[in-house]
Amino acid sequence: MARKKITLIGGGQIGGNLALLSAQKELGDVIIFDIPQSEGMVKGKALDLMQLRPHDGYDSNIIGTSNWEDVKNTDVFIITAGIPRKPGMNREDLLDINLGIIKDVATNIKQHAPNAFVIVISNPLDAMVYAFYKVSGFKKNQVVGMAGALDSGRFRTFIAMETGYSAQDVTCMVLGGHGDTMVPISRLATVGGVPVTDLIDNKRLKEIEDRTRVAGGEIVKLFGNGSAFYAPAQSAIEMAESFLKDKKRVIPCASLCEGEFGIDGYFIGVPTVIGSNGVEKILEFTLTNNEKNELSKTLNAVKKTVTETGL
Ligand code: APR
Repeated sequence: MARKKITLIGGGQIGGNLALLSAQKELGDVIIFDIPQSEGMVKGKALDLMQLRPHDGYDSNIIGTSNWEDVKNTDVFIITAGIPRKPGMNREDLLDINLGIIKDVATNIKQHAPNAFVIVISNPLDAMVYAFYKVSGFKKNQVVGMAGALDSGRFRTFIAMETGYSAQDVTCMVLGGHGDTMVPISRLATVGGVPVTDLIDNKRLKEIEDRTRVAGGEIVKLFGNGSAFYAPAQSAIEMAESFLKDKKRVIPCASLCEGEFGIDGYFIGVPTVIGSNGVEKILEFTLTNNEKNELSKTLNAVKKTVTETGL
């Protein structure tokens, strides 16, 4: 069986880690694509990763390029092209710059790999994934945004830190937009199947939910220049792997809702089955009245940023 082809649009901090993880997991051959001004940088990263092969033992071929012809026959794209958040900037401030970039990327992907599955990471995520979908004209199962996987991972991390138990055994989900209005669902969080609400008191749980909502910003402040990259890269790799191996994992993703949870026409974080057909299904479940209210608030925030794209 021929190797799969994974193309990373944007070879910066997240892109470089995506390349490393794709190779180490032997997901396929890797193309790191960036703008011509950064072609040397991505060619250098690719060569460095090739030189890691004797030590790590993987056989993936990795190249850096700024030539769109090289992305032909790609199975899965992961898009991080754009500029990251700077201190004091919220994700929405990024919109104008990153929108222009996503439009350019969507037009080129449509032209060179019209059947690929596309995972968008660039921020502001809810608007960027919508813009990609609109400009590319791709089918809804071909396009998804990476946000909930990361936000849920952060929620899991904070619960693990609080309880002292393994993060691996914490399961939970965060719904909604990838911004301060996201909805961590503590009611459904468990540690090894034990409800978190029986392990952590309500006041502390609320503080953990609040920290989760601004977890990206916490890292932006610490870095002083740039945003998180290790956990975002691994979160997207889980989604790509589920597609490439038809694992049918259930991951909170920004998927196009057409009636699910009463939402119509927007990409928003919902439990999503990812398999070889891309976004295969959104799993609906009954929300409490309070969760419904919170989801409606986060939907309004998503609508606002999507409206700002003018698409
Ligand atoms: N095509 C391809 N690559 C592009 C384009 C373009 N039109 N425009 C910019 N890039 C590249 C940049 O040259 C840079 O190498 O995108 C890369 C972005 O990398 P970083 O600046 O290191 O940003 P990173 O930390 O990887 O985050 C990328 O993901 O989480 C979001 O908010 C974050 O939007 C940001 C994105």
